[in-house]
Amino acid sequence: MNTMEINKIVAGVICAVLLVVVVGKVGSALVSPEELEAPVYPFSEDVMAGASAPTAAPAEPAGPEPILAMLASADMGEGEKVFKKCASCHDVEKGGPNKTGPNLYGIVGAAFAHKGDFSYSDGMASHGGNWGFAELNEFLYKPRDYIDGTKMSFGGLKKAEDRAAVIAWLNTKSDNPVALPDPAAVEAAEAVDEAAEAVEEAVDDAAAAVEGAVEEAGDAVDSATAQ
Ligand code: HEC
Repeated sequence: MNTMEINKIVAGVICAVLLVVVVGKVGSALVSPEELEAPVYPFSEDVMAGASAPTAAPAEPAGPEPILAMLASADMGEGEKVFKKCASCHDVEKGGPNKTGPNLYGIVGAAFAHKGDFSYSDGMASHGGNWGFAELNEFLYKPRDYIDGTKMSFGGLKKAEDRAAVIAWLNTKSDNPVALPDPAAVEAAEAVDEAAEAVEEAVDDAAAAVEGAVEEAGDAVDSATAQ
């Protein structure tokens, strides 16, 4: 290779480098990238942490586990034992006194704030309705979540068996115990609920499909009339 050739190659390389630099400068002068205020894709550390940590603990259930099906077979001795946690604040005998909390004789099925001679919190006094099994289950799970500003400073009974036992036992402390739900009936009701949900989902899906089809048909008509 003679020097002429080498010179040509070197000149070519220099030209190429110059071209790249010049195009780069011109390009960034013409286009100034704007910083987005928020990322277009919902990217977050949390999402990434969740994506790369499949063993993350499952979300806590939203509310207490239902107890209706457990009531009929609840252990009364266990219920009386659980009530020891309540006994410092609640008397449960007929005609017994209010303590820090109201007397609870006949509470199952009674109205919220059932004692006229007890000074309830506003949240309890204005709640309305009656203490059914489901309401007691929710209240005893987390009193403060169920009644805004409740005066009952008690953390709650986290175990469904404990709630079922104490509620079933409280039900015996009454002139008119409420009939315990038949577990078979509870199961049947749950099955009906599930079926209703499935139907609702199917209807939603069908509605979405119809909507899609209508849209497509509309587009087809548009393009047909445009021609
Ligand atoms: C630290 C005291 C305390 C403890 C422990 C306690 N309670 Fe209460 N309870 C109260 C007070 C005070 C109220 C009134 C709440 C209000 O007005 O918001 C109340 C209200 C209630 C009510 C509503 C009564 C009504 O007339 O509407 C029920 C039901 C109840 N408690 C059940 C229980 C059970 C069951 C336990 C035990 C698992 C328990 N409580 C533990 C203080 C307590």
